[in-house]
Parts: sequence; structure tokens; C-alpha cells
Amino acid sequence: MTNRYQAVCEQLRARPVRWLITGVAGFIGSNLLESLLKLDQEVVGLDNFSTGHRRNLDEVSCAVTPEQWSRFTFIEGDIRNANDCQAAVRGVTHVLHQAALGSVPRSIHDPVTTDQVNIGGFLNMLVASRDENVSSFTYAASSSTYGDHPALPKREEHIGRPLSPYAVTKYVNELYAQVFGRCYGFRATGLRYFNVFGKRQDPNGPYAAVIPKWIAAMMSGEDVFINGDGETSRDFCFVDNAVQMNLLAATAIDEARGDVYNVALGDRTTLDELYSAVRDTLADHGVEYSRAPVYRPFRAGDVRHSQASVDKARAMLGYADGVWLSDGIRIAVPWYIESARASQ
Ligand SMILES: NC(=O)c1ccc[n+]([C@@H]2O[C@H](COP(=O)([O-])OP(=O)(O)OC[C@H]3O[C@@H](n4cnc5c(N)ncnc54)[C@H](O)[C@@H]3O)[C@@H](O)[C@H]2O)c1
Repeated sequence: MTNRYQAVCEQLRARPVRWLITGVAGFIGSNLLESLLKLDQEVVGLDNFSTGHRRNLDEVSCAVTPEQWSRFTFIEGDIRNANDCQAAVRGVTHVLHQAALGSVPRSIHDPVTTDQVNIGGFLNMLVASRDENVSSFTYAASSSTYGDHPALPKREEHIGRPLSPYAVTKYVNELYAQVFGRCYGFRATGLRYFNVFGKRQDPNGPYAAVIPKWIAAMMSGEDVFINGDGETSRDFCFVDNAVQMNLLAATAIDEARGDVYNVALGDRTTLDELYSAVRDTLADHGVEYSRAPVYRPFRAGDVRHSQASVDKARAMLGYADGVWLSDGIRIAVPWYIESARASQ
């Protein structure tokens, strides 16, 4: 039986439209780009390369046909600049707004820049998209919005107090989205991503996410650090599931628009379990790592446990079972090995 995602992909392929992806040179943005070009869509991408990379775009260009690549237009620009946002949304049907400064620790070190990009830039994109009368606006929200709410699994309607400046910015995005619905009838759909991982997630820098950071450390024989006692848990979500959710949200029925949805597996993995899964998958590819992990203090602003309910996404958007953590790691690890070899 065809699920809704398969049906959406078939419809898009039959009748291509124009998409805007902000943050297109980043991890999730470049995966969205690859999927949309493979569906023969026309795509405009906006990025200022603050955390994204030109090499991500180059890699996508090699993964699609020259004809598909010719349907991509890149604008180097900044979402803090209203003119850049207006230029990017011109003639666009669906907006997938991914550009932001991610990372809880980055926001603790520099709350002002995080605020300017994540809130000011978001508002510019909302205004430009409203004025252009786009058909849909889907944005990257975050599981950090659950803050200190203790309930597990996390359901969209129950949130706690934010634990970091980053979490504040992502919650303010949701508030602005609601207000744009009320004041202008412009509905923006938020996707609360839970620890997304996969190819092209940057392993470098002080704010790298845990999975690419650990793969890189294990491959170069360095220590792997676990913040806390190893029992901290997360709902790790393979990037293809996030791509699926973006396409489902962009093409959703009217009743499903303007709301927020968890993007996750609905499962929970401790850091100790994750450590073993990454180490064992690397070993399957001939990369042996025998050091024990180094435990260090819990990190400020981190929540202890995180696990999503994806019931709402299933019911309203037709989200079908995504790729599981172990399968996602098995898909991602060869890419990290290959890209480390290519950069030597
Ligand atoms: N990766 C995750 O697990 C996760 C979890 C929750 C939410 N998110 C959100 O998903 C989105 C994408 O995250 P990602 O993991 O792909 O991060 P990323 O850093 O790889 O991508 C973000 C992209 O936005 C671009 N960007 C940043 N500031 C910009 C600006 N002012 N103007 C134009 N472009 C700008 C960066 O250069 C980068 O290419 C972000 O909004 C992030 O907050 C990600």
C-alpha cells in the first residue's frame, strides 16, 4: 500500500514546483536539497555559510543529474537582511526555513547573535513569505522547547520552561508562527526536531553534535567524552525522517497547517548505548576503537531525557515509520569514513 509520503513524492515528481530552502548549505538543508532535486523540483537556496559549507552543495551536485542540478539557484545571503529574504522567496510555492544558529552551548556563549539570527532572521522570513503569499511555510523548531517539562514521551501540547537562550529563540519562533496565523491568516508549520543525524552533519568545531563528533574522535583514535553518567537519553532521528516530515508538512491538508509536530522516532537511546552502537558500526567497517569513554560533568542547559511521541505527526501529516537509529548509523558511518579519506 502506498503511504502518504510516497504519494506526495509521486505528485511532486509529476507536477514540480519551486521551493526555497534557507540554510541550504547546512546539514539538514543540504539533505532536503538533494531529496527535492531528485524529485525534479526547482529549488532556491539561501545561506551565508556561517555554519554551512560550500562542499555540501558540491556534494549534492554530484549526487543528482546535471539536469536536476540546473534547477537549483543559490543565493549567498543573510536572513538578518530583509532584502535577501524578499529576493529568495520570489515566485516560491513552499518555504522550508532551516537557517539558524544551532547548539545550546553556542547560545549560552553568545546569546545575542543567536537571538538576532534565530528570531530576527525568522521574523524577516515570515514577513517576506507572507508578503509573497507562498502556499506553505515550514520551519525548523526544536525539541529544546520542552525545556524542563518532565513528562515522557514529549507531546506537543505540554512544554516546560526553556533551559537555554537557544531554546528561547526556538520557542519564540513558535509564538510568532501562532501570531502570524491569528493576525494575518498566514499559517507556518513548526517541526520540533529531536537530535537529527546523518551524512553532512559537521563533525568539526566546538559545537558539533554528538554522533559526528564521536565518529570523528573514534576514527582518529582520540578520547570520546560523555557529558554526565552515560544514562542521559535522546530520541536520535535519522535525517531522512526529517526530510520526510518537511515534505509532508509542506503539502499537508489545511487542518494540519500552522501547528507544531515532533520529528523523531519515538524511541530513546542512552549515551552509553549510542557509544556502543557507533563503536560497533565503525568496527564493522574495519575501524577498531578500544578506548573506554571519558565521563565528564553534565552540560549546562541540557535536558536529562528526551523521547518524543510522534502520534500527532502520524495522525495529521501521515508520517510513516522512519529509519531506526541503528540503520541510520549504518547508513551514516560509511559516509563519514569516505569523507575523512577524501579530505586527507
Ligand atoms: N540537527 C539537529 O539535531 C537539530 C535539532 C533541532 C533543531 N534543529 C534546527 O534545524 C535547522 C538546521 O540545523 P542543522 O543541523 O542543519 O544546522 P547547520 O548549522 O548544519 O545548518 C544551518 C544552516 O543555516 C545557515 N545560516 C546560519 N545563519 C544564517 C543566516 N544568518 N543567514 C543565512 N543562513 C544562515 C548556516 O550557514 C547553515 O548552512 C536549524 O534551524 C536548527 O536550529 C536542528
